[in-house]
Amino acid sequence: MKRRVAVLISGRGSNMEALIAAAREPAFPAEIALVLSNRPDAAGLTTARQAGIRTEAIDHLAFGRDRAAHEAAIDAVLRAADIEIVCLAGYMRLLTPFLVGAWQGRMLNIHPSLLPSFPGLDTHARALAAGVKLHGCTVHLVTEEMDGGPILGQAAVPILPGDTEDGLAKRVLRQEHALYPAALAAFAAGRAAAVPDATAFLANPVPLTPH
Ligand code: GRF
Repeated sequence: MKRRVAVLISGRGSNMEALIAAAREPAFPAEIALVLSNRPDAAGLTTARQAGIRTEAIDHLAFGRDRAAHEAAIDAVLRAADIEIVCLAGYMRLLTPFLVGAWQGRMLNIHPSLLPSFPGLDTHARALAAGVKLHGCTVHLVTEEMDGGPILGQAAVPILPGDTEDGLAKRVLRQEHALYPAALAAFAAGRAAAVPDATAFLANPVPLTPH
């Protein structure tokens, strides 16, 4: 039986698209049963609908400052849809302990850095400013600490001489699209802990360009 997954987005939804594409494979251990956005105008909702996936928009603006009520509405939709695993994919609202607690151990997130380096926003600019030579992305379980939960998988992306924020973001995003489906597959099949290192998740291992 495929595990029922909801993907939570706020915008473009390219990671969501990668998850939908991967989940079409008969052997993939999860199905994308629902795509939910806190922004009704998220481009990813249209993409998901065109792919034949059920979508829901639960606009946080309609709840004013009441984060708890917004999250309760999300939680109710997830439960009514028999969701087992939640994947955050560019979901740009901070979660309260309520939703994190309700889905703890069953909620994944993708973050565009090699955690624990560069939690939070503007990760590519910060990696460039710090002068690190290796950057990348991480899929982790969501806990109350922002971008701080147990790491399920990582993909490394070398920083090249003359790299710009945009160029680096594009190369990291390509790896995100390989990493997230692989991490979800391992997690849904119950073998996440058995994956020894990030390279096991890479469709195309990163070429380490000499410089
Ligand atoms: C990705 O870089 C993801 O790592 C971050 O937000 C971005 C979302 O992009 N959390 P998309 O909506 O999946 O295209």
